[in-house]
Amino acid sequence: MTLGVGARLILPGAACLLLTAFAAICSAQIDIHIHTATGPAESHIGKLTGHSKTGKQLYRRYCIGCHGPNGDGTGENAPYLAGGILPRDFTSGIFKCRSTPSGSLPQDSDLFDAVGRGLVDTGMPPWGPLTEQDRADLVAFIKTFSPRFEEERPEKSIVIPAESADNPESQKRGEELYQKTLKCFECHGKGGKGDGPSAPTLRDNQGNRIPPYDFTTGSRFKCGATNADLYRIFMTGLDGTPMPAWSDWVSPDQGWDLVHYLRTLQVNYKAGKSKTAPSSPGKPHLEKTKVK
Ligand code: HEC
Ligand code: HEC
Repeated sequence: MTLGVGARLILPGAACLLLTAFAAICSAQIDIHIHTATGPAESHIGKLTGHSKTGKQLYRRYCIGCHGPNGDGTGENAPYLAGGILPRDFTSGIFKCRSTPSGSLPQDSDLFDAVGRGLVDTGMPPWGPLTEQDRADLVAFIKTFSPRFEEERPEKSIVIPAESADNPESQKRGEELYQKTLKCFECHGKGGKGDGPSAPTLRDNQGNRIPPYDFTTGSRFKCGATNADLYRIFMTGLDGTPMPAWSDWVSPDQGWDLVHYLRTLQVNYKAGKSKTAPSSPGKPHLEKTKVK
């Protein structure tokens, strides 16, 4: 039923009531329904403690347009994002940027870092303008979307040993791994352009096409920018995508050899010049690892 102008003039009280009813419906629609949380949740990053109650307000303001009211990645802007990479569905509890082994939940600090850093070349912007407390609160809230965070504990972060010397011999060994032993080229291409023979067939866990990373275009990755980030990325893999975790097949020395070779594919990479990502407070962090 629509109220005509006349009716509104004659029945101001009723119209007012109607408007109030509408307002209630609208606010009910933007109210975020938390699926599984049994109570307020927390995050712990270094000395920071994040609270989901505050995180919810921030989420409603900054994140809902893409990640959606139910955290399932179906926000109203989701269909228009660059590259067709959809916002994360938080209900699955599956994340790309982890310091933990494949299949494990991420640490709170992994989510905290991902929010600060953004995921380069996707719609997910870096949230540098938010304070560290804001980011911690958001992490606490994001975790309430998936029951996994109540039922499981994240595994320990993998150990990243000190970097070995970056020299032509190490790069050569890395090349051997990439081109022959581990066959990274099958997806990433012989020259690292993301055009390997398997590339056109790849899909993520939601059935969407996912191109392998093109090493020749940038110097940053979705999950960081430093050599230690790069080491961690291929050792733990990008869960929810065909990019495997290699830690069972690659020794620490071989890991650094791969890092040194991959850097030679990145024509835009200048050693020591890679932008550092905002790191977790109170952690002896990866970003501090020297880039030689
Ligand atoms: C303009 C759209 C957009 C907005 C706004 C946005 N995101 Fe995202 N977000 C994305 C996309 C797209 C991805 C997936 C990128 C990918 O999978 O490569 C993503 C992924 C993520 C991830 C997953 C990281 C991982 O390791 O898998 C987290 C966490 C996240 N966003 C948190 C947030 C938070 C918190 C906010 C609000 C402060 C926010 N996002 C706002 C688009 C957005
Ligand atoms: C089965 C296909 C496949 C194989 C084999 C593969 N990758 Fe990937 N890789 C991918 C895909 C797909 C992505 C992009 C995932 C995304 O954007 O979310 C990716 C992304 C990456 C990234 C960038 C991650 C980021 O944070 O942006 C690195 C680094 C990488 N791969 C290294 C390797 C190395 C090293 C090997 C071999 C040891 C390898 N990959 C083997 C499919 C593969």
